Amino acid sequence: MANKQFKNLRKLFEENLNEQLFDSQADIELLKPMMYSLQTGGKRLRPTLLLAVLYIYGSKKIKLGMKTAIALEFIHTYSLIHDDLPAMDNDDLRRGQPTSHKQFDEATAILAGDALLTEAFGLIAADDQIKPRQRVQLIQELVAASGAHGMVAGQIKDLQSEKREISLDELKEIHHKKTGRLFSFSIDAAAIILELEDDVRDQLEKFGRHFGLAYQIHNDLKDLTGNQALTGKLGNSDEVNEKNTYPYLLTTKGAVDALADEISQINQIILKLEKETDKPFSFLKEFVKYIDVNQLAEDLNL
Ligand code: IPE
Ligand code: IPE
Ligand code: MG
Ligand code: MG
Repeated sequence: MANKQFKNLRKLFEENLNEQLFDSQADIELLKPMMYSLQTGGKRLRPTLLLAVLYIYGSKKIKLGMKTAIALEFIHTYSLIHDDLPAMDNDDLRRGQPTSHKQFDEATAILAGDALLTEAFGLIAADDQIKPRQRVQLIQELVAASGAHGMVAGQIKDLQSEKREISLDELKEIHHKKTGRLFSFSIDAAAIILELEDDVRDQLEKFGRHFGLAYQIHNDLKDLTGNQALTGKLGNSDEVNEKNTYPYLLTTKGAVDALADEISQINQIILKLEKETDKPFSFLKEFVKYIDVNQLAEDLNL
């Protein structure tokens, strides 16, 4: 049942995103690469997580977060387009398809990213489903999560720590910024829209923080398999770029164990949320299912 509701939320998001793009007045030479990266098989985890928290508080709440969910996916998509560029991770494939700079050219990829980044804030600013004060709060939170103190800060540290070893604490901080902050924004955005009280917010934030870290460890363990069907990429991108990752610092087994520990903490937070709010927070387990530790251990021959 929960799985069906999860799929419905994702479908609803997909329909609204398509509508948004259909209504766009952008020139086709820009709209085409924007749509290419937005519509090549993303899992939509961040927007669906935002909508899921709203849904837990009643299906009528979902529409209040739709524009913010689209804005979040715009930012995530821009971050991936730029992440794949030759000057960054230099990847030719994403989700099994040519990356933006391969499909088009570098300048087009950079500009499509720029457009998605900027338009994201316009979407929230113009969202008449929510109060002006909430729009400003959402924009401030999205700036904090994605800008010079959030995702971009994590990205530059990730690049600067290539080819040299850093401590596990430094790596955690990079993961938190480059990946965790956007997941946390999904949660923060829902909390702003629902005007949730502080203690629920704190628990939700904890969920976002652990989920973001677990998701990045999982991503890096997948990379290690070098299995294109699993990663949608060519070869072992992290190894080629000499990235610091959990498996690099802790060994593969150590990283799988750390991931299992994160998952168990996430499940405890979900239980606590459900108990303290009397709301169906176990719905969030649908997101945890994306991180299948046992399957991963098998893929890595552990
Ligand atoms: C990939 O994120 C980049 C990371 C932060 C690990 P996703 O795995 O959510 O990417 P898509 O959008 O579903 O392809
Ligand atoms: C992606 O990190 C994080 C952002 C784009 C912000 P990675 O470089 O580890 O993700 P993949 O493996 O390319 O998806
Ligand atoms: Mg990267
Ligand atoms: Mg990358």
